[in-house]
Amino acid sequence: MKNILVTGGAGFIGSAFVRHMVAAYPEYNIICYDKLTYAGNLDNLLPVSDEENYQFERGDVADRLTVERVLKRYAIDTIVNFAAESHVDRSILDPDAFIHTDVVGAYILLDEGKKLGIGRFCQVSTDEVYGDIDDGESAEDDRFLPNSPYAASKAGGELMARAYAVTYGMDTVITRGSNTYGPYQYPEKLIPFFTTEAIDDRPLPLYGDGKQIRDWLYVDDHARGVDRVLHDGVSGEAYNLAGENQRYNVEVTRRILEILGKPASLVRHVPDREGHDRRYAMTAAKARALGWKPQFDFDVGLQATVNWYLENEWWWRKIKKGEFLDFYRQQYAERLATSES
Ligand code: NAD
Ligand code: TYD
Repeated sequence: MKNILVTGGAGFIGSAFVRHMVAAYPEYNIICYDKLTYAGNLDNLLPVSDEENYQFERGDVADRLTVERVLKRYAIDTIVNFAAESHVDRSILDPDAFIHTDVVGAYILLDEGKKLGIGRFCQVSTDEVYGDIDDGESAEDDRFLPNSPYAASKAGGELMARAYAVTYGMDTVITRGSNTYGPYQYPEKLIPFFTTEAIDDRPLPLYGDGKQIRDWLYVDDHARGVDRVLHDGVSGEAYNLAGENQRYNVEVTRRILEILGKPASLVRHVPDREGHDRRYAMTAAKARALGWKPQFDFDVGLQATVNWYLENEWWWRKIKKGEFLDFYRQQYAERLATSES
């Protein structure tokens, strides 16, 4: 490993991974390749922008010619694919971009990587490929039952990585992270959305009864998990990166309000997300056997995250004035109009 292409590296988790890799491995060249969609943000990479072992290239993972040019230009030997459309609610409104990036983009990267004979390909996937699980924990060999267009597109992308390993002998590894939170997360996802809305005393639209369960993984733990699997994972294998912090949405919401000293009356129970998965939970035993484990307890991580949003309004206020407003209207205006406190 020497020249590593990190796709989607201007997004939330990808940028945490880039910041981590640039600092941890001065001997590697880290090349970030990102289309800079609404979710891509070069502010996330400011901490590394002057580092010698970091480069940025703008491009689409589904654009074969540009992918080929960048792979050749930097003599890329390793690809870590974070690039994705990543928000379930947007996938329900319009799945098109999800198929383009999460399925076709993964295929193009694999295919160009194969043609140029790169070494390792790491596909960053999600617990959502397993779908809803009533009790117990999903293990890596469990069947896939994705329920949203997002989850189905992520399943498609990682199944293509598996196929390239089995059919062409490519050196692939897959990570399946659980719900991730922390600094620099686009404020459409539950924790940064509710935190920034509550700071402004605005209503928090909690879907359905709020009793859905998610397993929360701090972003630095996620980045370290991808690093561990990239370096030590067995070729052809997938690894769950579970946060081991399962919480009801309503609990997470209450805790954010407590940290901010805001009233519970901000919470609105709004009509549920269509096809909403009730619970995700995975075992992390296989990644733990590689020597990785999540280090952040949820209470510590959430406090640090809420503090970060309090201290970094420069980062999120401009985002919430832009494209976000159109999405907000489409997703929440009607729901909030029929909601109760
Ligand atoms: P994000 O939406 O914050 O960032 C996605 C990045 O990909 C952005 O920088 C965007 O500009 C870029 N991108 C989108 N389409 C592209 C394209 N066609 N070509 C090149 N770049 C493109 O997402 P995130 O939350 O950082 O998630 C990163 C990865 O981790 C995704 O693959 C996601 O499925 C996976 N994941 C996320 C979570 C989570 O809770 N956020 C959990 C598990 C797995
Ligand atoms: P989200 O952050 O969108 O992640 P995912 O859908 O990938 O799990 O949502 C986390 C949980 O919070 C999920 O059960 C949906 C719920 N949720 C709300 O209740 N209201 C909201 O406005 C959002 C964005 C999410």
